[in-house]
Amino acid sequence: MIADECKKIKNNFIDEIKNCSEAKCLSDIKIRYLGRKGIVSSLFKSISSLTQEERKTGGRELNLLKEHIEKTVREKESELRQKVSPASFFDPTLTGEKTDIPGNHPLKAVMNSIIYIFTAMGFGIAYGPEIEENYYNFTALNFPENHPARDMHDTLYLKEKDTLLRTHTSPVQIRTMEKHAPPYKFIAPGKCYRRDTIDASHSPVFHQVEGFMVDRDISFADLKGVLDEFARRIFEGSQDIKTRFRPSFFPFTEPSAEMDIMCSICRGKGCSSCSGKGWLEILGAGMVDPEVFRYCKVDPDKWQGFAFGMGVERIAMLKYGISDMRLFFQNDLRFLRQF
Ligand code: DAH
Repeated sequence: MIADECKKIKNNFIDEIKNCSEAKCLSDIKIRYLGRKGIVSSLFKSISSLTQEERKTGGRELNLLKEHIEKTVREKESELRQKVSPASFFDPTLTGEKTDIPGNHPLKAVMNSIIYIFTAMGFGIAYGPEIEENYYNFTALNFPENHPARDMHDTLYLKEKDTLLRTHTSPVQIRTMEKHAPPYKFIAPGKCYRRDTIDASHSPVFHQVEGFMVDRDISFADLKGVLDEFARRIFEGSQDIKTRFRPSFFPFTEPSAEMDIMCSICRGKGCSSCSGKGWLEILGAGMVDPEVFRYCKVDPDKWQGFAFGMGVERIAMLKYGISDMRLFFQNDLRFLRQF
């Protein structure tokens, strides 16, 4: 009789599930009773060999058995799940795991500091294209036609010889003067490109921040004041930072200068960090050449001012004591995690 059979199975099942206290055992029971080739399935199959009458009652019994087993398994599953409640494996008193995400990239951090320092001094921010025209990169900045910087060896030209990857951020001076009337007071941060082979102090891609301040009455003393203040702030920590200005030459400034800071390691005496000079160059600067104003139709008799340009990699290397520029671009986490 199928009813007796069902009863026997039910009793066995109840015994087994009572003694079951872990997930593996429950899953075995589930497969054995409810699986495709399990006990319940094979009983259902055997129904076909019964008489019509037996089939009716047997079918009902079997369905009840199946429902009972399914329901009990479900209850047992949820009971076992609760047993492995978070409290049994999660200890809220343990300290958290430190995430391994490095902070700001050192170049980004220095770039942000430079921008912060100048905007705090009232400078705005201007941007220009990295794919630049020869005119803006060289001609309007008063580079003579045969200037070596225009050479194929130094500049990455694009297909048409009139376009190139900008070699410095100075063209933003020209673009801004073309678009706006004076006075001007802005910095222009961005990427620059040169045909350099990568080594400890060169990279074909690097970052610069240009500065430009033009008004009715701007003198070299203003330039010194602004850049001294910048040096003090960017190298904060070395309170007694000393600067000096050396005469230099750039086609777009007259007079031109380079600014050095005193080497913090030897304090001006000369050591291996500063190649024995005692001073480290940090930027180029000068009074805007009247020729540049003329290219932009700004009257040099009415307006004067200064410009400066600095390499962000160089400042970051000095600030953090990094001796190899390649470290900035290798994305080695052991390096980046230090910032
Ligand atoms: N553009 C120069 C360079 O890349 C840097 C520079 C020097 C910018 C003097 C200036 C400046 O604005 O006055 O080497």
